[in-house]
Amino acid sequence: MVRLPFIAGNWKMNKTVEEALELAKQMKVSLAKVDSVEVAVAPPFTALFTVRRELEGSRIGLAAQNLFWEDKGAFTGEISPAMLKEVGCHYVIIGHSERRQYFGETDETVNRRIKAAFKHGLKVIFCIGETLKEREEGKTFSVVERQVEGGLKGLKAEEVRPMVLAYEPVWAIGTGKTATPEQAEEVHRFIRNKLGRLYSQEMAGEIRIQYGGSVTPENIKGLMAQEDIDGALVGGASLQAEIFSKIVRFREI
Ligand code: 13P
Repeated sequence: MVRLPFIAGNWKMNKTVEEALELAKQMKVSLAKVDSVEVAVAPPFTALFTVRRELEGSRIGLAAQNLFWEDKGAFTGEISPAMLKEVGCHYVIIGHSERRQYFGETDETVNRRIKAAFKHGLKVIFCIGETLKEREEGKTFSVVERQVEGGLKGLKAEEVRPMVLAYEPVWAIGTGKTATPEQAEEVHRFIRNKLGRLYSQEMAGEIRIQYGGSVTPENIKGLMAQEDIDGALVGGASLQAEIFSKIVRFREI
């Protein structure tokens, strides 16, 4: 099964509209010739419209960093799936560890968000990963298994098929401590096997699983050489076009 590598930049709570526009302009130029890797960027909500307009005609996809599951109504401060569709998003990141850690996200709310995204035709980047404490206590697989089961609860095969999973060990995010390619591959393989048991081997073989956590131009090649690592969700290193484009062009390193 050949899975097209997928590298996405999660800008988190960085970049004003003006700064985001500048970064999008640079990325459009530096990634113009890339065609054997799918690329997307996830600016903050306020910059989505401007970045979408700038990226029109390029191969760089647009992702949002979260959504709320209701269509509309009295939910102050929230953004609906339809709003993200209208602004031109193709993807939405759901269940990022920072949402789980700081904003009370649970497997159940992740599940509701995933269902809403599917209903509105947004592709999901579904994030999972263990904390350092959980890893040290030997709970990595059980935590990841619980997150996969909880996030995908009640979802049919056709809803899961277009999804992308992102394994982001919390201890590797923003810390400069990347999982070794072997550590990451072990969990990626576990996730793929779990998807195989929940759905089918054939489907599990098609789903892309990104790695996230201190990805840099220096470590991307080793990660991408692993059989079950199909791309990366890049935080800090996606905030500079030159560095992000080196990651995307990992084959040339
Ligand atoms: P860093 O690449 O900054 O470690 O962040 C990873 C991440 O959380 C991407 O979603």
